[in-house]
Amino acid sequence: MDKILIHGGNPLSGSIKISGSKNSALPILAATLLTRENCTIRRVPDLSDTHYMLQILAHLGAQVERASGTVSVTADKVESIAPYDVVRKMRASVCVIGPLLGRCKEATVSLPGGCIIGDRPIDLHLKGFEALGAAVRVEGGNVKVFAPKLTGAVINLRGKFGPTVLGTDNVMMAAVLAEGTTVIEGAAQEPEVVDLANFLNKMGAKIEGAGTRRMIIEGVKALHGAEHDVIPDRIEAGTFLVAGAMCGKGITIKRVDAEHVRATTDALSSCGFKIETKEDWISIAPNGSTTPVELTTEPYPGFPTDMQAQMCALLSTTHGISVITENIFPQRYMHVAELKRMGAHVDLEGSTAVIKGVDRLFGAPVMASDLRASAALVLAGLKAEGTTEVSRVYHIDRGYEHLDEKLSELGAHIERVKG
Ligand code: EPU
Repeated sequence: MDKILIHGGNPLSGSIKISGSKNSALPILAATLLTRENCTIRRVPDLSDTHYMLQILAHLGAQVERASGTVSVTADKVESIAPYDVVRKMRASVCVIGPLLGRCKEATVSLPGGCIIGDRPIDLHLKGFEALGAAVRVEGGNVKVFAPKLTGAVINLRGKFGPTVLGTDNVMMAAVLAEGTTVIEGAAQEPEVVDLANFLNKMGAKIEGAGTRRMIIEGVKALHGAEHDVIPDRIEAGTFLVAGAMCGKGITIKRVDAEHVRATTDALSSCGFKIETKEDWISIAPNGSTTPVELTTEPYPGFPTDMQAQMCALLSTTHGISVITENIFPQRYMHVAELKRMGAHVDLEGSTAVIKGVDRLFGAPVMASDLRASAALVLAGLKAEGTTEVSRVYHIDRGYEHLDEKLSELGAHIERVKG
C-alpha cells in the first residue's frame, strides 16, 4: 500500500486547477445506463471511485472507453444484476439501481456494506422506488427491485438527517422513464444533483426544480445519448482553500464555481482569512490574526459534512475554542484520534467536536480511515513540524485527483512512497 510523506512547515503559494466533481461524475456515469445510445462525459476525474464505476458499467454490459478525462459509454444492452464482487468496493455503486430500474424495470444489486463514517442506510431510496410502483426485496445481501411498470407519484425523500443526495439521484433516474409525473418533496439541493438533472435533461428527460426542495419529473418514453461536462469539485476546492489557509502565503484555485464553495469561503472569512472570488477562481491569503468559529454541518447550501474533517485540521491550530457540530453523519470523527496524535486538542461530545487551538502540530505516523479524514491528516501534516507519514493512501485516491502532485505544485514537500 502506498504512503504519503509530508515534510511540514513549507509555505504554499501559486495556483492549481480544480478537477471534475467525483460526486457528480458517479451518478452521471450511472445515468448513461438509461439509454442505448452513446454518451460522452468530459472532465471525469481520474480516481479509483470513477474507475470502479466504469468497471460496474462494463460488467452490466456497457461499452466503456476512457481517454484522459473523457469517457464514452454505450449501453446498447444491459444486464440488471450487479453482484457483490463488482459493487463492494464503493458505496456509491447503489446509484446504478435507479437507472437499471428505469431502463430494465428490474435490478438486483448487492447492498453496500458498513461504512466508517456511519451506518448509511438506503431506506429512503427504496421508499422512493416503492412509491413508483416497484416491489422491493432484500435477500442474500442483495436488494432486488422490480416493477412491471413504473408510475409517477408524490414522494417525500426527507429523512431524519435531512434530504438524501444519492437517494434523490436514484429516484430521479428511475422516475425519468416512469409513466406520468413524479414529484420529489424534500429533494437534496446539492449542485451534484443539479448537474445530474442537467445531464438527464440533455438526454431528453423532463425535470424541473433541480436545486430546490421540490422536483417535478414528467416521465418520457425513452432517453437518447448526450454529451456533458462534469462540474468542478467543490469539496476538492474547499480542501485546497483550507490548505491555503493553514500554510499559504496566498494561493488561487482555478476552474471552480465560487457559488458552490460559498459555505466554505464564508467559514474561512469568519476565521479571518482574506478571500477574493470571481466566477471561476478563488484566492485565499492570510489577513492578520485568525479567530475560532462555530460550525454546523448541514445540507447544501449549508456547510458541507465533506469539509468537516478539513476544518477540524485548520481549527486545531487556530487560537481559542472552536466548536463543530456534525449533523449529517454524527459519527464522522475518525480523524480526531489521529489529529490528537499530532498534538491537537479536541474533545468529542456526541456529534460535537470542541477544538482548543494549539500553537503547533507535530509530524507523526497516522492512518487514513476515510476519504475526507485522510485529507484532514494531509492538511495537518503540511502545517506540522517534522514529517508526517499517512498510510492507507488508497482512501485519498478514491476522491482526490493527484492530490500530492497538486500540493507539490503549490510548494508542499510531499512525496508518495510506493507500497
Ligand atoms: N440517509 C438515510 N436513509 C437513506 C439515505 C440516507 O437515513 O436512505 C441518511 C444518511 O445516513 C445521512 C443523511 O441521510 O445521515 C444524508 O446522506 P445522503 O444520502 O445524502 O448521503 P449519500 O448520498 O450516500 C453523498 C456523498 C457523500 C456526502 C453525502 C452528504 C456521493 C457519492 N456521496 O452521500 O460524500 O457526504 O452525500 O452530503 O455523492 C464523500 O465524498 O466523501 C462523501 C461521503
